Amino acid sequence: MNIMLFGAPGAGKGTQAKFLIEKYGIPQISTGDILRAAIKEGTAMGLEAKKFMDDGKLVPDSTIIGIIKDRLSEDDCKKGFILDGFPRTLAQAEALEVLMKEMNIKLDKVISLNVPDELILGRIVGRKVCPVCGASFHVEFNPPKVEGKCDLCGADLITRKDDNAETVTKRLTEYHSQTAPLFDFYQSRGVLVDIDGTKKMEDITKEIFDILG
Ligand code: AP5
Repeated sequence: MNIMLFGAPGAGKGTQAKFLIEKYGIPQISTGDILRAAIKEGTAMGLEAKKFMDDGKLVPDSTIIGIIKDRLSEDDCKKGFILDGFPRTLAQAEALEVLMKEMNIKLDKVISLNVPDELILGRIVGRKVCPVCGASFHVEFNPPKVEGKCDLCGADLITRKDDNAETVTKRLTEYHSQTAPLFDFYQSRGVLVDIDGTKKMEDITKEIFDILG
């Protein structure tokens, strides 16, 4: 099963991806996570991407498309995958279509998580992430059992560098100008399902499971 999670920053894509991995046993491909790992490793690509990410801007298409080509060719993607945070521009969406055609695979569903901008800021500035295992929490909506500690591995939770009010505003501007138009692109392909992303996390998960079967 090849799935895409689509939505604004903080819409809940990463949160829902974790439940899908568990149920369907397919990998999550988050371009944001891949870029953050490259920054941590100090690669040339990571250092270049960091400038864009810290400023709330999209990383250039050529970098992102290269990342996806490499990642989709890995063995664990053979039984399917969950795209999270990709594609974000028309050029990326078109490149994905070409790539999937070459691989003789298709996109089964695009799950769009619809959350209004006024709720996004609170979600993002309240997010705490685990730098070791990648788990994500929220101080109010999904607090860890022990304050400041990851439930899964016990590491100290951190706030992502781009999770501040000023950068979130820029990320939302990028989303509306470059990414939101892909909603119509995927609707026209007949694969898009629009979900109310303001519901409780577990209700959204159930709805997605019902859609995917
Ligand atoms: P990326 O890491 O992809 O960030 P994003 O798209 O901005 O998405 P987020 O990770 O912020 O949000 P999410 O939807 O996963 O929400 P989450 O589940 O954590 O990208 C970062 C940067 O990398 C970009 O700005 C760009 O520079 C670059 N980049 C990445 N991909 C790129 C690409 N393809 N092209 C170009 N550049 C690219 O939830 C958020 C919070 O809300 C959490 O605290 C969670 O607990 C809480 N929450 C989740 N669901 C609910 C709910 N239902 N109710 C209440 N709270 C909830």
